[in-house]
Amino acid sequence: MKQLPIGILGSGKGSNCRAILERIRSGNLAAEARVVISDLLDAPILDIAREFSVSNAYLPPGQFRTRLEPDAENGLTNMLREAGVELVVLAGFMRVLHAPMLKAFPRRIINIHPSLLPKFPGLEAWKQALAAGEEVSGCSVHYVDQKIDHGEIIAQREVAILPEDTPESLHARIQIAERELYPAVIAEFCERYQAAGL
Ligand code: GRF
Repeated sequence: MKQLPIGILGSGKGSNCRAILERIRSGNLAAEARVVISDLLDAPILDIAREFSVSNAYLPPGQFRTRLEPDAENGLTNMLREAGVELVVLAGFMRVLHAPMLKAFPRRIINIHPSLLPKFPGLEAWKQALAAGEEVSGCSVHYVDQKIDHGEIIAQREVAILPEDTPESLHARIQIAERELYPAVIAEFCERYQAAGL
């Protein structure tokens, strides 16, 4: 069976990355993680890649805070292409992507965000939902474009907000939902890849 070659980008603890790699290892996701890349040298997501024996790399991001320097973004594009990646999976990657990546991987870059987009893009979306008095929040997987947490929504999962919720408890339940939703969405890409190509 044809495995979908994916590349995972992240800046943080990598719980989504772990969930994806676990599904692959247990034979429940017809994907092959070709590379895990982080803009932070000591990000736990790189340790997870090593734990699963997945090729991994630190990408020096350059001088900007929220995006990659053009040379770095070109370098990233080349790394992913050379690894034969067909689907780029953002899992807590804290930088906005621009032309080099978006042109190289049109409708081939997806992201997961901890809210029901278009509500609450940006940082600490679960806190935003709580502060707004919402009764339901959740997570969204969407195609990536040049705006933050924007782009066509592919799938969402709702999480009820409980009266006793703290930001931490809500965030924890949303992350549980994320770790189910993201592999499920990637599985759909895998099916498409096997049937006819992405
Ligand atoms: C997730 O909550 C995701 O929604 C957001 O960043 C977080 C990454 O968490 N984009 P992790 O590194 O996968 O644990």
